[in-house]
Amino acid sequence: MLTNEENEFLTRVGPGTPAGEPLRRYWLPVSIAKELTDENPTQFVRILGEDLVLFRDKTGRVGLLEDRCSHRGASLVYGRVEERGIACAYHGWLYDVEGNCLETPPEPAESKFRLTIKQKAYPVKKFIGLYWAYMGPEPAPLIPKYDVWVRQDGVRRIILQPQLDCNWFQAMENSVDPAHLQILHQDTAKSRGSRAASSTTRGFTDDIESFDFYEVPYGIIKKRTYKKGLVDEHPLIFPNINREGNTTQIRVPIDDTHTWHVFIRFEPSEDGNRIEEEGDPPVEYLRAYKDPPEALHPLARFRLNEVMAQDHMAWETQGPIADRSQERLATSDRGIVLLREILKREIEKVQRGQDPKGIIRDAAQHTMIDTHLDETLKQMAMSGRLQKSVGARFMINHEDRG
Ligand code: FES
Ligand SMILES: [Fe+2]
Repeated sequence: MLTNEENEFLTRVGPGTPAGEPLRRYWLPVSIAKELTDENPTQFVRILGEDLVLFRDKTGRVGLLEDRCSHRGASLVYGRVEERGIACAYHGWLYDVEGNCLETPPEPAESKFRLTIKQKAYPVKKFIGLYWAYMGPEPAPLIPKYDVWVRQDGVRRIILQPQLDCNWFQAMENSVDPAHLQILHQDTAKSRGSRAASSTTRGFTDDIESFDFYEVPYGIIKKRTYKKGLVDEHPLIFPNINREGNTTQIRVPIDDTHTWHVFIRFEPSEDGNRIEEEGDPPVEYLRAYKDPPEALHPLARFRLNEVMAQDHMAWETQGPIADRSQERLATSDRGIVLLREILKREIEKVQRGQDPKGIIRDAAQHTMIDTHLDETLKQMAMSGRLQKSVGARFMINHEDRG
């Protein structure tokens, strides 16, 4: 159980909030790159409680600016893009991707007023078919090379989940809550095979010998040991990613009570050979898990015929921000206690001016981070859950790996 103050400390994401500060030390995906086109060169995005416009100018540079124009506040989503940047639709103040004001058309020709204007701007990078933003203090760190994101013996796929209408940290607590798999997902989890549970209340709980958690440099590993000997380990990648199977599930806080939920899945090649990815990965948009899709509990009804729909149901019905002053933690919640302790510790590090966990700045250390994906792929292949990548992509021999 937490006090209300402790709950706010761990969950709020806006500028200047305790948890909002460490979240601003990581590159966060903010949009699907394919969605920004010549026909639709601007997109409104709200990230970490900030209203922003993502745009592509006519030379192909991508910028992320505060949505509210510095002049008198009209939205830049309706701005006109040109070679040099984006011009506000209202009076034409023109901004480049760095937020410099290049023109203020209604001012006298000799005016230097524009030099006093700076529109808030964040750096953007394209990586794996997504635009990523860095909203923290300069200099920006590097985007970590997690195996799922950079391995070359396969291809990637982006899967966009329906928007999650609750606070990001509910999804993250779920990532260190292994006990729920055998209960919440008892009807759908593929690991159960064709057996039926002897009791719907206990689900497959009695298959489990033990749960353990341990901290690693990039996060927390949760470990399930089954009575039959199988060991299942999945990492929570701090602060906002869960790797489940061959997929990183990235939870990007839109604001305190909404979360953008995007998956990057690695599909290994049939034969272990390197595959040249052709352009951006394909993107799958999943249909809503609830009806009506915009409504909140209890006005929406979730369908529960898929694992992720079940998870979204559990997280959203905990409340827009779960009230942790009313919970009753038990022994099976020790992963959650550990995650809260680590987040608190990392918030305090940032408050002391240090980098939080997992930040990489040194190019020499910017090598692939092994999250033990191979073990998972082996288990998935054994249980028939692994979708290998085939298709018309160009295969490269082992010898070419370099
Ligand atoms: S409000 Fe944007 S130029 Fe006037
Ligand atoms: Fe789950």
